[in-house]
Amino acid sequence: MASIKQWTTPLKGVESLKLTEAPKPAPGKGEVLVEIHAVSLNYRDIEVPCSDMCGVITQVGDGVSAWKVGDRVLSTFLPDHQTGQVTEKELSRGIGLPLDGVLAEYRVFPEHALVKAPSYMSDEQAATLPIAVVTAWMSINGMRPMGQNGGHGEYILLQGTGGVAIAGLQIGKASGAKVIITSSSDSKLAQAKELGADYTINYRTHPNWEEEVMRLTNNHGADIILEVGGAQTLKKSFDSIAFGGLINCIGYVSGKMDAPDDRTNVNLLALRRNVTLKGIINGPKDRFEEAVKFYEKHQIQPVVNKVFSFEEANEAFRFLESGNHFGKVVVRVNITTYLTPVPPSKVNPRDTLQIYHTQQFLPSTEYRPDFQQMSHKPADHTRRKPPSLFPAKEEPTSPFYTMLQSAPPDYLLQREEPHEYPSSRSSPTYRTRGQQEDYGVILYGVAQKM
Ligand SMILES: NC(=O)c1ccc[n+]([C@@H]2O[C@H](COP(=O)([O-])OP(=O)(O)OC[C@H]3O[C@@H](n4cnc5c(N)ncnc54)[C@H](OP(=O)(O)O)[C@@H]3O)[C@@H](O)[C@H]2O)c1
Repeated sequence: MASIKQWTTPLKGVESLKLTEAPKPAPGKGEVLVEIHAVSLNYRDIEVPCSDMCGVITQVGDGVSAWKVGDRVLSTFLPDHQTGQVTEKELSRGIGLPLDGVLAEYRVFPEHALVKAPSYMSDEQAATLPIAVVTAWMSINGMRPMGQNGGHGEYILLQGTGGVAIAGLQIGKASGAKVIITSSSDSKLAQAKELGADYTINYRTHPNWEEEVMRLTNNHGADIILEVGGAQTLKKSFDSIAFGGLINCIGYVSGKMDAPDDRTNVNLLALRRNVTLKGIINGPKDRFEEAVKFYEKHQIQPVVNKVFSFEEANEAFRFLESGNHFGKVVVRVNITTYLTPVPPSKVNPRDTLQIYHTQQFLPSTEYRPDFQQMSHKPADHTRRKPPSLFPAKEEPTSPFYTMLQSAPPDYLLQREEPHEYPSSRSSPTYRTRGQQEDYGVILYGVAQKM
């Protein structure tokens, strides 16, 4: 029987994570098998195995109508939370806990538990959406009717530069908000500025950052606050919120217990400025899909700070724990599925094409795949050698490349400068729009008529 690799944990910290083998699962009625390509980490994953993944469906069970083999999909944190208010029942069935996590090569999902991945994003970027983006999205838009996005002209305050805050920054800027962000690090604040933050505050050098927020907003305060700090930040959020503002209680990275000397009751703090204090638990699938549409419209590129290989997943957790990250930390899972390329001669540039974001570790960063020589065999799901390669310095001249150049804009291959990854290659690379190419891995995707 085929086996797969997966990380398991007895929930006793990073040290107890184990890379194990298990039989390859098969989808039952109404389920699909997903080959997992990338997994993003969240703060909670330090205690609970991962829930956020982007992968490709390789097998569908009986009765599945929503998906077909080859569809690129994202997990949802609470698979049964499809719409509206979350309930105890849905909460008790979270991916990672108590259901199996996604830090594995394959996993079976019920068909209703998945969302279509945006085609312009890399697997790594798309894997950051289920928790961080949906949580930030709900904080800004969850109190509003579907389709009526908020934030425009408002002040949004973000605490720190972790996954949720950076997603909030990107959504806030695309919504036309004025964004204020705090961090313990000036260099992270400089990165936030580059992403469009209007105001930055170092909460270490400005421990009374709430006063700074009031000053920067001409005493108006922040209309929406993404409160991820908890014990050491909530009182300050109440002191920097605008009249009628919304404080979203998301997390407690600075602790769960109030300091003993500050006994002011939350009742008083909330009524003082007519504040709405709202607890956030991720969001339902329909709001996730709404967020994806917004990302597609604004072509937002989620920030992947560092990518670890599957075998180094425990290092990824340590990196997250160190707090040195900006945005998201991602684990790339080994990929073994390749899909059918269309022979260039058979592709009309006016056809609608779908580029599969299939990737392959290459033996050397000096080489690129030669699309011209790609196999045209029907899809199979076995490990195959990379196609023939040619030196990186040569411009790709194959008909396949030329065809892609004249393909519809969403599917153009673009020339990109190397990304700022730790072991990033030094030569320019090619990618489909939004498709990142990172260290040691190259786009090996192919086009298929839809
Ligand atoms: N309710 C939900 O649905 C939900 C969803 C996702 C996450 N969460 C929770 O939200 C929190 C953040 O999650 P995340 O995934 O974004 O975490 P993360 O990526 O690990 O980021 C945490 C960031 O918090 C910042 N921070 C630490 N202490 C701070 C303080 N005293 N004041 C302000 N910022 C501080 C740090 O930013 P700097 O390094 O820039 O200082 C750090 O990078 C966690 O508690 C998580 O469990 C809840």
